[in-house]
Amino acid sequence: MEFVKTPFFTENLSRIALGTWALGGWLWGGTSEQESIATIVEAMKRGINLIDTAPAYGAGVSEGFVGKALKIHGNRSKIILSTKVGIEFRPDGSAVRNLTEQFMLKDFEGSLKRLETDYIDIYYIHWPDPLVPMEEPAKVMARLHKEGKIRAIGVSNFSPEQCDEFRKFAPIHFIQPPYNIFERNIETDILPYSNREKIFLMTYSVLCRGLLSGKMSRDRKFAGDDLRKGIDKKFLPPSFEEYLLASEKLTALARERYGKTLLELAIRWVLDQGAEIAIWGARRPSQLQPLDGTFGWHLDDEGKQEVDKILRMTIKHPQDVTTYMGPPSR
Ligand SMILES: NC(=O)c1ccc[n+]([C@@H]2O[C@H](COP(=O)([O-])OP(=O)(O)OC[C@H]3O[C@@H](n4cnc5c(N)ncnc54)[C@H](OP(=O)(O)O)[C@@H]3O)[C@@H](O)[C@H]2O)c1
Repeated sequence: MEFVKTPFFTENLSRIALGTWALGGWLWGGTSEQESIATIVEAMKRGINLIDTAPAYGAGVSEGFVGKALKIHGNRSKIILSTKVGIEFRPDGSAVRNLTEQFMLKDFEGSLKRLETDYIDIYYIHWPDPLVPMEEPAKVMARLHKEGKIRAIGVSNFSPEQCDEFRKFAPIHFIQPPYNIFERNIETDILPYSNREKIFLMTYSVLCRGLLSGKMSRDRKFAGDDLRKGIDKKFLPPSFEEYLLASEKLTALARERYGKTLLELAIRWVLDQGAEIAIWGARRPSQLQPLDGTFGWHLDDEGKQEVDKILRMTIKHPQDVTTYMGPPSR
């Protein structure tokens, strides 16, 4: 395991975090409690000490599993819990953004209860809310931090301009945007911003929702409400075929140049591009088996150029990530 030192925690953070969105079931075609808890416990046993969750992941289901897994594993003080605030579920099951002070405080109490803890290590604003001036959520976060209820403040899915506005009222310690070989928007804004401003970058969707796992295939069927049935347009024609072709070529590059798998290449690439932490959304304990293969090597410049060349050759209909991932405003 590789670790990163921060001024906020005595423990160093594992550079791979376990992501638990899919474990909540919502937009992932359902879940299994037993398998989900086993996955979280397995991650902690393997040395991952950073677990990322959110109330939005299954309207509390994912946080509940994390709380139970922590009880089984023990050692709360050695585990860094990252959760989020600001997505409200309506009675009809739809999700909307809500960063009013009233909702944030209610959301926070719900997270503590489900996670069976009395503090959160990294507390993220999940998505900006265009209906609430940034001052309001920023001041709530600053207060929770001052009171010691949260140990670090994060923002997710923010532009540099939104970060600047937020920072007039509260510090930002972590930024959580999407980043993987196929989704590289942050390279022109948040990546240089976080480097310049010395904010820790903890990126999500390292496997592009399985497209970079090496296990995705043309005949893969997605169940129930799985966002890969069409909300995520990368999985629809004509883009799906292009991403699969790119994955095949990247698999060959990983094997021939580094003796690695596509999954190992995809995770290493994010860590080598400047993200301090990559969040990996494993759903089953066995999916964590390749963990060790992501450490102890690096992509060289020529290898990175080969990755770019493959993308240029194959992806003619790129699909942006941010257009479908966020819930609407109220
Ligand atoms: N802040 C935000 O707005 C935000 C948004 C998205 C994600 N996140 C965080 O980032 C985490 C990861 O992102 P993500 O869930 O979008 O996607 P991801 O890590 O790119 O992909 C996750 C999917 O890849 C597949 N997979 C994982 N390991 C595998 C393996 N060893 N072999 C084969 N397939 C494997 C699994 O799907 P199948 O097995 O079903 O194929 C899994 O659900 C989330 O859990 C969440 O914590 C945050």
